[in-house]
Amino acid sequence: MLTNKVVIITGGSSGIGKALAFELGKERCKLIITGRNIDKLEQTSHELSTQGIVNHYIVADSSLEYDNKRIVAEAIYHYGTIDIVINNAGITMRSMFEDANIDATIRKVMDINFFGTAYLTQAALPYIKKAKGTIVGVSSIAGFRGLPVRSGYSASKFAVNGFLEAIRTELLNTGVNVLTACPGFTSSNIRFAAIDAQGEISQETVRDEKKMMSSEECAMHIVKAIKKRKRSIILTNEGKLTVWLNKWFPRLVDKLVFTTLSKEKNSPLKQTSEIH
Ligand SMILES: NC(=O)c1ccc[n+]([C@@H]2O[C@H](COP(=O)([O-])OP(=O)(O)OC[C@H]3O[C@@H](n4cnc5c(N)ncnc54)[C@H](OP(=O)(O)O)[C@@H]3O)[C@@H](O)[C@H]2O)c1
Repeated sequence: MLTNKVVIITGGSSGIGKALAFELGKERCKLIITGRNIDKLEQTSHELSTQGIVNHYIVADSSLEYDNKRIVAEAIYHYGTIDIVINNAGITMRSMFEDANIDATIRKVMDINFFGTAYLTQAALPYIKKAKGTIVGVSSIAGFRGLPVRSGYSASKFAVNGFLEAIRTELLNTGVNVLTACPGFTSSNIRFAAIDAQGEISQETVRDEKKMMSSEECAMHIVKAIKKRKRSIILTNEGKLTVWLNKWFPRLVDKLVFTTLSKEKNSPLKQTSEIH
């Protein structure tokens, strides 16, 4: 069903995006992968090619409008069409809101996670409409339930969810499918690349990456949802439970989320709970 479909995957050089590239490669899709780091892209592109997966990589910063237009232009140059766009590139942050330099953290996260999604989706839309294709946003459980110490990240994913819902409705009679994919905690590089209160990369994870869903499993679920033209998926049992509980018992979830996230390594929440 996905054979020969042309797919753009932003952030295709690591974690969920890279796993999506291999999963879609198995379906014989033709890929464009993007990211900022050329070495990681080159390596991924080489690994894909050795498995016979047709791909091109583009060094592009998702937060820049011009780069997103370039991604679309290059996809059309190489393949002549775009069937699926996967807005996957993303970063997270880790700091209490009161300590955060807003421009260096919240604005930066919004620029990549939300504005990146808006820029690329708009640039690709004429082609996606022509192909009656699919727009995917890789959002998060944090798009349903705000997470402490990740206020900017949560804001960006709520923005993505609202944006996708709005354009899904605008595109209702066009044959375009819009999929909101919300992974739970998934093992990847995202926590190592998290930015701190001043926008510096933390280079360490604060959770046990071994206890999470793998990026490969996450990608498998997303590809299945693309094939079934689903409107949304929520991943991991913990993620599903959090979204359901938060709808009906939000006060309880405030406490549960506080307690759970205060157990993360060096959590600033621990200090506030100790003070109280
Ligand atoms: N892992 C989780 O627990 C989890 C949970 C829920 C949702 N998600 C979402 O899943 C998506 C993928 O994250 P991941 O966990 O796979 O993280 P990851 O392993 O850190 O991969 C992130 C990818 O995005 C790229 N990227 C980051 N900033 C970019 C920018 N400005 N322009 C272009 N590319 C950029 C990175 O490459 P460069 O650094 O080279 O640019 C990398 O290829 C994100 O949207 C994230 O929010 C992840």
